[in-house]
Amino acid sequence: MDIVKRLLPVFLFAWCCVFVINKNGVEASHRIYQHLQNVMAVEVKDTHRTKYHFQPPHHWINADCTTYFYQYNPKGSVWGNIVWAHSVSKDLISWEALEPAIYPSKPFDINGCWSGSATILPGNKPIILYTGLDPEKRQVQNYAIPKNDTDPYLREWIKPEDNPLVTPSPEMNVSQFRDPTTAWWHNGHWRMTVGGKRKHRGMSYLYRSVDFRFWIKARHPLHSAADTGMWECPDFFPVLKNGNKQGLDTSKVGPDVKHVFKVSLDETRYEYYTLGTEDFVGLANESDSADEDTAKGWAGIQAIPREVWLSPEGKQVLQWPIQELETLRGQKVDLNNQNLEQGKHVEVKGITAAQADVEVTFSVANMDKAEMYDPNWKDAQTACAAKRSNVPGGVGPFGLLTLASQNLEEFTPVFFRIFKSQDQKLKVLLCSDAKFSTLKPFDEKQYRPSFAGLVDVDIAKDKKISLRSLIDHSAVESFGAGGRTCILCRVYPTLAINDAAHLFVFNNGTEPITVETLTAWSMNAPKSMNEGQQ
Ligand SMILES: *[C@@H]1O[C@H](CO)[C@@H](O)[C@H](O)[C@H]1NC(C)=O
Ligand SMILES: *[C@@H]1O[C@H](CO)[C@@H](O)[C@H](O)[C@H]1NC(C)=O
Ligand SMILES: *[C@@H]1O[C@H](CO)[C@@H](O)[C@H](O)[C@H]1NC(C)=O
Ligand SMILES: *[C@@H]1O[C@H](CO)[C@@H](O)[C@H](O)[C@H]1NC(C)=O
Repeated sequence: MDIVKRLLPVFLFAWCCVFVINKNGVEASHRIYQHLQNVMAVEVKDTHRTKYHFQPPHHWINADCTTYFYQYNPKGSVWGNIVWAHSVSKDLISWEALEPAIYPSKPFDINGCWSGSATILPGNKPIILYTGLDPEKRQVQNYAIPKNDTDPYLREWIKPEDNPLVTPSPEMNVSQFRDPTTAWWHNGHWRMTVGGKRKHRGMSYLYRSVDFRFWIKARHPLHSAADTGMWECPDFFPVLKNGNKQGLDTSKVGPDVKHVFKVSLDETRYEYYTLGTEDFVGLANESDSADEDTAKGWAGIQAIPREVWLSPEGKQVLQWPIQELETLRGQKVDLNNQNLEQGKHVEVKGITAAQADVEVTFSVANMDKAEMYDPNWKDAQTACAAKRSNVPGGVGPFGLLTLASQNLEEFTPVFFRIFKSQDQKLKVLLCSDAKFSTLKPFDEKQYRPSFAGLVDVDIAKDKKISLRSLIDHSAVESFGAGGRTCILCRVYPTLAINDAAHLFVFNNGTEPITVETLTAWSMNAPKSMNEGQQ
């Protein structure tokens, strides 16, 4: 099978990913706050609520691997009481919340309805596969079908009595078997894969079926990797070659497609993706503390849906916000041919910097001053933590200072830094550093990582690199080099809120940089779907 094996360090951060052992043992991978799970939000705090990234009106959401459906706690602002909440949208930008679609009610899901996926069966019949927790808290795979096929919103779902479809086999760990994918049709069988692990080896179990009811496990997993821990939210599907962006049916095969496999690593908490067709929904990690989440009345957002396709040379996955997002663009400003000497920062004025879309291209004439890349850095994230924006460099750091207070007491920099490796090859690092994002004391409660990824471009040849950042109060979603590396970062400024938030371009490297072009837009909040119809 032609799987793109490169697991790109593209970090769509999964909230579903904190190991905690509580009195009942390990409860999957969520931190459990039993005392908060049912604390209803009395007041929904508006500070930091995103305005154009989807959030339900209140409480806890995990965008997880479901599109249109999301994991939701109807009773509190932390993980717990998980149901499949349901929202609908025509453009993936304005959403309308409906009643939860799937919630615990049967023996095969009485302890929880967790993630899964929908498949469209022949005759245009949708079916949902999802993980249920049975009375022994075993993870089993169930299915649900619409109660009324002609309801355009598919509001109500039936969970037939012949569930579960798949139970863990004897050699499996019953608490490590979840997140069935969309099924695909291949060689006379339906196939689907479910995340799991054996000892410390992460894997994606493969199943086949002719009728969608009786599923047989393949002897070998679809894919596995030593020492990666539990694999969550696996996904497997085709994309067209030659940079063609058209979305495909998951069963599509042929010489014009490549298949992509994507997985979320539960332990390292990165989503090592490799891709999807259109409307692939990214994950956004909530990094506030549980007490804060309860106080503000909500937690979790959805990333802007992305188009995902294979790069023209066929070795990389590109992601870009769907075009519909551009309908929210309002007031626009430009800043072109701006020189940035070392230590300089220039404000981008005239837009709502707390709620903006920015596209910028930096040009870099000379790479001679690139710093050495330390081979001891474990990964891009380690490199970014060692070389933050306040560590002056050679070529870079240069980029944007988002959600910045006027005097830079707070800021979330999104920047490039160019390194040389021992073989003299250039490496481009993209960082989104939350360390200076808030004046709040730096305690363990708030997670302020330096998110980073390498950007696979030939900077010596291109001599320029682009960046797009979607800034939305507490979310900064960035796309480096046309979507080769994507980072979504949640931050909670105390000064840089609403009108007190500013946007700058900066350079802290000795090599001068030019902002060749920069366009920034104020972003409007989407109308709700009903308003849109009026
Ligand atoms: C099914 O949905 C359609 C469209 O919303 C509605 O007109 C019809 O009454 C529904 N049928 C039942 C049995 O609820
Ligand atoms: C199942 O996995 C959990 C989480 O890693 C682990 O704590 C537990 O010991 C495993 N159970 C068995 C029977 O291996
Ligand atoms: C998500 O945030 C939590 C803290 O709220 C942190 O422990 C976890 O590592 C984060 N996951 C990722 C992928 O950043
Ligand atoms: C640039 O470097 C200087 C010197 O370390 C530092 O004071 C300043 O905060 C840095 N700028 C940014 C945006 O980090």
